[in-house]
Amino acid sequence: MNTINYIQIQKENSKHVEDAKALWLPFTAELKKHKDERFYVDQVTDNLMKRIGIQGLRDTMHFELMYINDECIGVCNFAIDLGGIKGLIDKGYGYIMGFYITPDKRRLGHGRTFFQHIENVLIADGANYIYLTPDEVTGLPFWESMGFVNSHLIDPDEKLPIFIKKIK
Ligand SMILES: CC(C)(COP(=O)(O)OP(=O)(O)OC[C@H]1O[C@@H](n2cnc3c(N)ncnc32)[C@H](O)[C@@H]1OP(=O)(O)O)[C@@H](O)C(=O)NCCC(=O)NCCS
Repeated sequence: MNTINYIQIQKENSKHVEDAKALWLPFTAELKKHKDERFYVDQVTDNLMKRIGIQGLRDTMHFELMYINDECIGVCNFAIDLGGIKGLIDKGYGYIMGFYITPDKRRLGHGRTFFQHIENVLIADGANYIYLTPDEVTGLPFWESMGFVNSHLIDPDEKLPIFIKKIK
């Protein structure tokens, strides 16, 4: 039987940082490829290190790795959005900023299992809804199958449609 563990990335833990890099770089490369955009390793690494650096500053910010039998196969950065998006998303929503399952472990239900865990964490954090802007290639079919629906609102920064799921 598989043993599943979710680990909160800690910046002082070099294994966490290496495991996060091993997934976050291909994750970003894949999404950039889907959008036909360029990918700069240094920029993405800096951005990742900033995200890791702010972990632990508040309890409702999460950057987690998913391990199956000690193999790191997934990563997710998610939080309670304390500010919301003016006129579009109220504060207090759960927000998923990055979600990835390594390609050789896909379509085995691991993404669903990881998302169920994330949903439970965000419910415990007090969220009634989760929002995100799906990647159009692999993200969209996955998030729709997780119950997210197109709100027909557009994220003003990313210029992408916002999908929402009611979780409570
Ligand atoms: C999206 C992603 C996390 C899905 O992970 P996964 O482990 O393959 O997902 P699951 O096996 O749990 O899939 C659950 C359901 O989602 C749907 N789904 C997942 N990937 C799909 C795809 N590529 N095409 C169509 N439907 C898909 C299916 O309904 C699937 O159920 P099924 O396999 O019984 O048909 C993974 O493809 C990934 O990391 N993609 C690149 C990064 C990305 O797009 N992240 C989301 C950013 S918004």
